[in-house]
Amino acid sequence: DAGHYDTGGFEHYLLKEISDQPESVARTLRGRLDDRFNIAHLGGLNLDARETRAFRRVKIIGCGSAYYAGQIGAQLIEELARIPADAEPASEFRYRSPVVEHDTLYVAVSQSGETYDTLAAVQELKRKGGRVLGVVNAVGSAIAREVDGGVYLHAGPEVSVASTKAFTSTAVAFALMALHFGRIHDLSPADGRRIVQGLRKLPDQIQEIVKQSDAIEALARKYATSPGMMFVGRVRGYPVAREGAQKLKEISYVHAEAYPASELKHGPLALIGPEMPTVAVVPDDELLDKNLTTLGEIRARGGRVLMVGHRVPDGGLAEDVIVVPKNEVELDPILLGIPLQLLAYHAAVALERDVDKPRNLAKSVTVE
Ligand code: G6P
Repeated sequence: DAGHYDTGGFEHYLLKEISDQPESVARTLRGRLDDRFNIAHLGGLNLDARETRAFRRVKIIGCGSAYYAGQIGAQLIEELARIPADAEPASEFRYRSPVVEHDTLYVAVSQSGETYDTLAAVQELKRKGGRVLGVVNAVGSAIAREVDGGVYLHAGPEVSVASTKAFTSTAVAFALMALHFGRIHDLSPADGRRIVQGLRKLPDQIQEIVKQSDAIEALARKYATSPGMMFVGRVRGYPVAREGAQKLKEISYVHAEAYPASELKHGPLALIGPEMPTVAVVPDDELLDKNLTTLGEIRARGGRVLMVGHRVPDGGLAEDVIVVPKNEVELDPILLGIPLQLLAYHAAVALERDVDKPRNLAKSVTVE
């Protein structure tokens, strides 16, 4: 109920919600981590271990930011539980008359729990006998009532049209689900412990990123006047880049495109030049060298690079760098998205946009 919820001294709901993430992530984690067995407790899934082992695939559906968060989720499940997983926009899924398989676990993602395309996809799945879980923020919402079980985000109310804290909490909920599935499959106790401890670190690390708001504001002012921006990332960085581009375009109206960094040379490199800066999501993982090579290719074409990562690269490969705290490689995407929320927010303010209510958009789209 937005009536009981004000901006709490912040200039916009969006900045309040970005700044709330240390607490909202702590709420998503609360009571769900187990240090004795290095597992996650997710009783609401309504799946026992034997049923869990029977699923051979996970298909995640959602719209907008929920879909991009689902893409992070699919990577987490595939990486930690080694179950093939992917994400797809709920509307596309629904319209292509999907083959529903008994050994696929379906997961619907929605902040509001009321998005019509997602709800209709869930209903279609259920009609065909599919097992569907929900990752939902709004308790008792239409999608929450329709699914067979799931995880509530407990992120708290999100008022601003652009999703921020629900996005981050969705990624965290999928990390919990991936840990849970992983420990039923082949994730070792030691790796389980590594993930449990990494998850516990997130709230403080998010606070460190939120503290960089002023520095990110200066970068936003510098880049906001560009006619367009390219966002790139590889594997773990790619859904982060997609959500970063989505955030920028929806609230600042600056044209933004996201590409896998490896695909740049297959088309969009033609756009690169001083007028089209690139935001590069470059985690310190096994793809670091490949990503730095891409930055070199962008620089060689006169492109400007704003890098978001864990260290300042040598050789002036990036004109600007936002350094975020490092966690476990699997969990880093959760943190890398947060500076991009701040970048979009400050760009929208600099351009005097209607930050909390961008033109043409609604918080929840309950029509087809
Ligand atoms: C709308 C909003 C987006 C949101 C999407 C899905 O398009 O503008 O910010 O990501 O719906 O919403 P949901 O409530 O299902 O997560």
